[in-house]
Amino acid sequence: MYVITGASGNTGSVTAERLLAQGQKVRVVGRDAKRLERFKQKGGEAFVADMTDAAALEKAFSGAKAVYAMIPPNITAPDVRSYQERVSDALASGIKKCSVTHVVALSSIGADKPDKVGPVVGLHNWEKKLEAITGLNAIFLRAGYFMENILPQAGVIQSMGIMAGPLRPDLPLAMIATRDIGAAAADFLSKLDFAGKQSRELLGPRDVTYSEVARVVGAAIGKPDLTYKQFSSAQLKPVLTQMGMSSNMVDLLLEMTDSLNSGYMKALEQRSPKNTTPTTIETFVAELFVPAYRGKAARA
Ligand SMILES: NC(=O)c1ccc[n+]([C@@H]2O[C@H](COP(=O)([O-])OP(=O)(O)OC[C@H]3O[C@@H](n4cnc5c(N)ncnc54)[C@H](OP(=O)(O)O)[C@@H]3O)[C@@H](O)[C@H]2O)c1
Repeated sequence: MYVITGASGNTGSVTAERLLAQGQKVRVVGRDAKRLERFKQKGGEAFVADMTDAAALEKAFSGAKAVYAMIPPNITAPDVRSYQERVSDALASGIKKCSVTHVVALSSIGADKPDKVGPVVGLHNWEKKLEAITGLNAIFLRAGYFMENILPQAGVIQSMGIMAGPLRPDLPLAMIATRDIGAAAADFLSKLDFAGKQSRELLGPRDVTYSEVARVVGAAIGKPDLTYKQFSSAQLKPVLTQMGMSSNMVDLLLEMTDSLNSGYMKALEQRSPKNTTPTTIETFVAELFVPAYRGKAARA
């Protein structure tokens, strides 16, 4: 039986769907039974648990042949780093107590760094906690910058007529669609051919700058002159707080973007067929961004 955490989310849902489609036994974990219902209809077993609850995760992982394990984001937490530590402690404890032999763990580029990478420090520590479990075989999927991060730009374009954010317009980013991460995780889980602890980067099909994203989005929404403008941390902090992030989350996010801008946080592997994934920014924009943008326009 495979156990998939974050199963109603971006990556976990794809991993669970793929394994179920292969006829595998799958237990899906989330906080909301209703959001897990779709997997039950396909033969999955739903397990409601909060990932800060070590005892619940111990039950969730019992009998698992392998686990897809991730730390769900919590952008409203007053102390995001301590929330991440509680989740990674609970996950590691469940994995250890149930003697799980194989884990595919979601991590990020930058997780090699112990400091100055904002929320990614939580993923660095998460990898360390798994490294400390004797006998465990684990893959740390160090994913690039999620293409989904550009979805809030739909609202920015509506209100300001441009795309805007803290990253340099000319910064090449390994942008990846989350569905490709979910698919890669499913592949590792179905083969279970990894041993020891290893990190594996997933970098999308090519590096993309925000200027290029603006050109792709502009062409797709009929605004060929759309541009991206970098704003300072001081300008962005009140905007991001107003969008619902806790003050601590905004500080961590801006620390991470500073490290991306300076090159301190970056992919370490050379691009290769192993770390290159299929969904292009053009496909992502056509299939996910444009409907989100049109939906927002229709509601406005
Ligand atoms: N954004 C990036 O560019 C980037 C890059 C690399 C790595 N990452 C990492 O990727 C991860 C996010 O992956 P994702 O996008 O697949 O996640 P996601 O879609 O945001 O969330 C996964 C699911 O977790 C569930 N969840 C939330 N809080 C929970 C809790 N306390 N207990 C149990 N379940 C909970 C939610 O479902 P319910 O509400 O139904 O419970 C949610 O659907 C983070 O660890 C992030 O650091 C992000």
